[in-house]
Amino acid sequence: MCKNIETIIVLFVLRLGMKIILASGNSGKIREIKNYYKDSEVLAYSDIIEKFEIIEDGDTYQKNAIIKATTIYEKLKDKIDNFIVLADDSGITVPSLGGIPGVFSARYAGIGASDKDNLHKLIDALKEKNIKKTPAFYTAAMAIVSEKGVFTAHGFMHGSVIAETRGDGGFGYDPMFIPDGFSKTLGELEIEVKQEFSHRTKALRLIKLLI
Ligand code: IMP
Repeated sequence: MCKNIETIIVLFVLRLGMKIILASGNSGKIREIKNYYKDSEVLAYSDIIEKFEIIEDGDTYQKNAIIKATTIYEKLKDKIDNFIVLADDSGITVPSLGGIPGVFSARYAGIGASDKDNLHKLIDALKEKNIKKTPAFYTAAMAIVSEKGVFTAHGFMHGSVIAETRGDGGFGYDPMFIPDGFSKTLGELEIEVKQEFSHRTKALRLIKLLI
């Protein structure tokens, strides 16, 4: 997107004092999205109301992103003014393993599983098939809910997963994911590098036009 348009949109958001509320409790995602909207007021919903569990029972990333954003919008609409809710639902897909874990990425090792449990379960799944490296991709569906309605966009990041971890940066499956064009994992690369071309950034670039 043209830098000038981005600047105008950011200024517009600032002038109106509009808050961007993130419908996420994932600290890795919150850090990345706050980093992207550096010039705007970005809050996690848990900065305003107590954190609670949102049942993400959609069968697509897009449906789950809409569920999260709508749930938080409904909770906040009588409490604060001039805000939009932004939700992201994302995950990683490994085609050679039949497309797992996909929309189940967050609970691949079971409900309530940690990022580490999920990461090591995927590494074990590769090892079971004697796969050292295979193509994979991240998907992010982004949803905005405001008084204007519901809007969504998708972003993708292609690369490979390896059957080991390298580096401890990023979050989730990052220590086993090597983006196309790189030899290091996202666990080894700086957050700014990931931020330039990540699935989340690509979806945010599209959705930013709508804010
Ligand atoms: P969600 O919070 O319900 O959308 O779950 C997303 C799942 O995909 C979590 O397990 C994350 O760890 C994983 N995931 C999504 N985006 C990324 C990323 O950028 N890096 C690493 N893992 C990710």
